[in-house]
Amino acid sequence: MRRYTSGMLRVDHLSKSLPQGRRLFENVDLRLGTGECVAILGESGAGKSTLLNLIAGLDHADAGTIDIDGVRLTGLPERERTQLRRYKIGFVFQAFHLLPHLTLEENVALTLILTQHKTHDARQAARKALDEVGLGDRTRDYPRQISGGEMQRVAIARALAHHPVLLLADEPTGNLDAGNAARVLQLMQSLMHTHGTATVLVTHSATTAAIADRRLRLTEGGLVSP
Ligand SMILES: Nc1ncnc2c1ncn2[C@@H]1O[C@H](COP(=O)(O)OP(=O)(O)OP(=O)(O)O)[C@@H](O)[C@H]1O
Ligand SMILES: [Mg+2]
Repeated sequence: MRRYTSGMLRVDHLSKSLPQGRRLFENVDLRLGTGECVAILGESGAGKSTLLNLIAGLDHADAGTIDIDGVRLTGLPERERTQLRRYKIGFVFQAFHLLPHLTLEENVALTLILTQHKTHDARQAARKALDEVGLGDRTRDYPRQISGGEMQRVAIARALAHHPVLLLADEPTGNLDAGNAARVLQLMQSLMHTHGTATVLVTHSATTAAIADRRLRLTEGGLVSP
């Protein structure tokens, strides 16, 4: 497989149209080095979540290429794309996506079990990740028993538990009050620094965007300075 020395994420000339044919964006270029954080801003409907889904290999682009840690994602068979996603990427979804019938510990451990960790080790690592986000005493709770801010922290623990090289975070502070947002941001920053995770941070909030090394705006013609 092709490897690049420069950059954890490399997106070239990416374009995407909607099923009805409307062009969402074209010519999206993005380079991200190890441990680097870029914030992506843009109007609602601009295609920010779609762009993250493309980078995660959950959706297909019409044109362009995506390389993650030197591996060309675009064109990889489904199975290999899933493997790449499981091992290399952490995703904090706009709507948490916690599984309601699993405890917090099981929600976090699931990602690790999918990456071939033994159940016992996965549970131990899940507890450690939950502890890192300040929820070490809530591991046996279910998602319905915790607040929105706490769910957001579980989502971050789950995204980072397997130490991905690339974190994709979609509005990680959306729906949080100022205090909880600040807490989640501080947490993400400290985890990014501890683990050297490269991060693409999608947000509407200027305060959230301020933690990034660079800020870009997604437009129909590509990523531009805000
Ligand atoms: N599966 C789909 N089928 C048809 N249209 C879709 C689909 N997914 C997204 N869209 C449309 O694509 C556009 C971009 O959606 P996307 O969720 O990427 O925007 P966004 O920039 O993340 O917006 P927001 O800031 O509100 O989260 C929207 O107009 C949306 O309605
Ligand atoms: Mg979105």
